[in-house]
Formats: sequence, structure tokens, C-alpha cells
Amino acid sequence: MMTAQETHGQNHQLGEESSIWFKLTALLKGDPQNPMRTLMAMADRYGPVIPVNFGNQRVVMLSEPEHFKHVLVTKGDDYIKYFDGLKPIFGKSMITNDGALWQKIRMPQQPAFHPDMFAEYIPYFLDAIQTKMDIWADLAKSGETVEMVEQTWTLAADMICKALFDRDMPFNPHVVFKCVKTYTDVQGHKSIRLKVNSGEEFEMTEEGASKAMEIWANVPPAVMGADPREERERTLLTMIQAAVDDPDVPEFDQAQAVDELKQYLWAGTETTALTLAWALYLASKHPDTAERIRKEGEEVYGDRAPAAADYSALAYTRAVVQETMRLYPPIWGFIRVATKAEEIGGKEIRPGDRIMLFAYGAHHSPKYWDEPEEFRPERFMGDAARKRKPYTYLPFGGGKRSCIGGAMSQVENTLALSILLRRFRPEYVGNEPPGINGTVTLTPKGGLMFKIRELS
Ligand code: HEM
Repeated sequence: MMTAQETHGQNHQLGEESSIWFKLTALLKGDPQNPMRTLMAMADRYGPVIPVNFGNQRVVMLSEPEHFKHVLVTKGDDYIKYFDGLKPIFGKSMITNDGALWQKIRMPQQPAFHPDMFAEYIPYFLDAIQTKMDIWADLAKSGETVEMVEQTWTLAADMICKALFDRDMPFNPHVVFKCVKTYTDVQGHKSIRLKVNSGEEFEMTEEGASKAMEIWANVPPAVMGADPREERERTLLTMIQAAVDDPDVPEFDQAQAVDELKQYLWAGTETTALTLAWALYLASKHPDTAERIRKEGEEVYGDRAPAAADYSALAYTRAVVQETMRLYPPIWGFIRVATKAEEIGGKEIRPGDRIMLFAYGAHHSPKYWDEPEEFRPERFMGDAARKRKPYTYLPFGGGKRSCIGGAMSQVENTLALSILLRRFRPEYVGNEPPGINGTVTLTPKGGLMFKIRELS
């Protein structure tokens, strides 16, 4: 069995040729409008297990639900995390770890994501949504065009800071948003690769990506150092601080705490923001959906502020969020590294192989979904949802490494969608259909451009 060090090698930058994210960009070039279609065509042509050789590195693409289960659950311990190149974003936070260390780091933080906590978080989510509505009221008046992912990212970051950290955002979210985007857009790293290849002297400090990461590195300490809003006793941040003070978990030191915050400020914002932005795009394209969301809000919570019980009753709005993540899964593929030799679907797997679980492929497969390209929130309601085959829908991953914040993100997005649409009619004014970029996340090419209209 290989160690994590052996399997991970020495790659540290996302744009380096040895990084799997960079390698995948070569595969994604076939269809500039939606590179996911290229990968789906490959799966149709070559089957559900496709080994691809990139020089001395093999990437194996999987697109069958039973193989997802095999890698994530049945043989989960034999497939470890792959985070080379994403270290500047995630540091050594739990999302990057494996085995006993991962467990030690996750355990003290788990209670912050228990559904019992959601009722406590909702007022902070509502507070952040209100701030966004004030901004949108001005945008509706000025009539300017805005990019929606940036709008929803600032909302998601505000919600996380207030609810989980008991802080107001002590940073300019627009600046930080752009920094992270600069880094995760792998295609933007071409210049780095060309310089390395041509033997030119290569100065990271001059690169936009490097500068972006410098700004990013300053964000968690700013959050920790900011004044608490209400001195709440049990927040994710106080749990993290208690873990640092716990002599029984020496691994959870101050540097670990900083990296945990880094992880939340990216994993908990980018994905939630993309989902809400795509949901607003779909609502703009399907006015009947927007109307039904408004009507459901009126019936469920009327003129008062929604509470935890109302979230459960917003069944259609929640289904819209879920259907959005089926069509546009923010994490379109996850990567693991094989540590043992074995076979999957009759194909050889070697230690060190990078395994790409192509979630988007399963979400769009006609084998598991009727007319998969159609937007139909009803798939996630009642009987249809109960009959779904396991591992055909995995926006939050699967097995013990599945997303810690998945359930909470659905509360955030269901409430935000419901409340925002009751007052506004965000109108999508960009290209139709919007292009897709297969960066680390599934992002709209050039963003999603909107005009905000206020309902009378
Ligand atoms: C729509 C919203 C979200 C999506 C689609 C999403 C997706 C995912 C996925 C697919 C994974 C597993 C990756 C893998 O197996 O390699 C994951 C892990 C994780 N997510 Fe999320 N996520 C979302 C929201 C959040 C939120 C709101 C938070 C926290 C505030 C969060 C924190 C994390 C963390 C810490 C992990 C790592 C868990 C571990 O390794 O134990 N995510 N997420």
C-alpha cells in the first residue's frame, strides 16, 4: 500500500502540468460551450471505466453509480483524498486529510452541523438575506447589470460568517471572491505552464494566482481577530477554538484552526453560491417555477419571518434547489487516489491512479432520469424521490467523506430563493444557454448576467 506522500507526489500548484486539474483541461476542450458533454460522450463510447494515460500518470474516469459506491463506501479506505494544487485554498484542513487524523479533526466540529442547530442559524441567514435585499433594491433602481455568482457568493459568505463564526464579514467579499476565482480557474494558469516549459525564470510572486492566494491567506486570521457580534457560546468558531485548547488533540493546533476556516470560507461559500445563482437562472427561464415558489412562500410563512418548521414545509422550493444541483452540480467530479491494486468493472486499477468520479455524468444520464436535460423539480418530491436509485444523485459526495454542510446549505438556499423571489424578479440577460466551465467547480462561463427587477 502506498503512503499519502508517495501517491500525492510533490505537486503544489493547480496550474502545473503534473496537476490532475490541469490534465483534465486537455480532456475538456472538445466542446467549448459545455465541456461536460465531451466527458459524457467519452463515457458513451468507451464505457463506465475509462483509464486515460497522461505520460507517467493515469487518470481513471468512473461514471456508474455502483462504482461510485465502491470507491466512496465499500472500499472507501483504499481511496484517499487528492488535494494537490488546492493546498493554497484548503491548507491542511480536514477536507484534505484521511484516516485517523481526518476523524480527529472532524469530530470536534461535527456538532455545529447537526440539524438541531439550524433553528439557531436561521435568524442570521435571514439577516444576511435582508442585507442582500437592500443591495438589490438599489440595483433595481439603478437598472445596472450584475454578475449573479458574485452576488450570491457575497450572500453565502455573509451567512457563514454570521451564523457559524458570530462575525460580520471583516473583509471585502468582492475582492476575496475574485481572488479565489483567479486561482480555481485552471485555464487561467496556462501562462504559468508556458513559462515553465519555455525555461523562463518563473516568479510566482508576480503571478495573479499567487497574489490572489496571499490575500486569501489573510482572510481566516481577519475573521478570527474580528469582534464577535453577540459573544455566542456555541458556534463553529468556539468549537474550533476549544479543539485547539484540548491537550488530547495536539494535532488540532492554531495553524489547523486557521486552515479549517479557510476550508469553510471556500467549500461553504463557492458551492452554495453557485447553486443559488443557477437556481435564479432557472427561475428566470421558468416563470411558472418562480410563481410557484412565491405562492409557496406566501402560504407557508406569509408576512412573518420564516422559521425552522417553515423550511420543512417549503417542499417545492427545496426541490428546485435539489433539481438545480442535479443539472449544475457545483462539484461536477471528485478525485481520489487509489492506494491498492484491484479491478473496477473489469479494468485494472493501479496504486497511484487518480480516480475521477464523474458525478455530472450520472446526474445527466438517461439511464437514471427521464429526459435528463429537462428542468423538473418534481423529481425531488414524493414518490419519485423515494424511488431514486442510490448514488445516481450525489451533489454532496457519498460515504463518510460526504459534505458536512450539505443539509445546512439547503436551508440557506431554500430560504434565500424563497425570500428573494417574493420581492424581486431577477432577469437573466446573458447568453442562452449559458456556457459552462469545468474548473474545480462547475461555473458559468463569463458568469451569469442579470438585471434585478423589484416586483410592485
Ligand atoms: C450546495 C452546497 C454544497 C455542495 C454542492 C458541497 C459539495 C461537497 C462535496 C461534493 C464534498 C465531498 C468532496 C469529496 O468527497 O471529495 C464536500 C465536502 C465538504 N464540504 Fe461541502 N458542499 C456544499 C456546501 C457546504 C457548506 C455550506 C459547508 C460548510 C459551511 C461545506 C463544507 C464541506 C466540508 C468541510 C467538506 C469536507 C468534509 C470531510 O472531508 O469530512 N460544504 N462538499
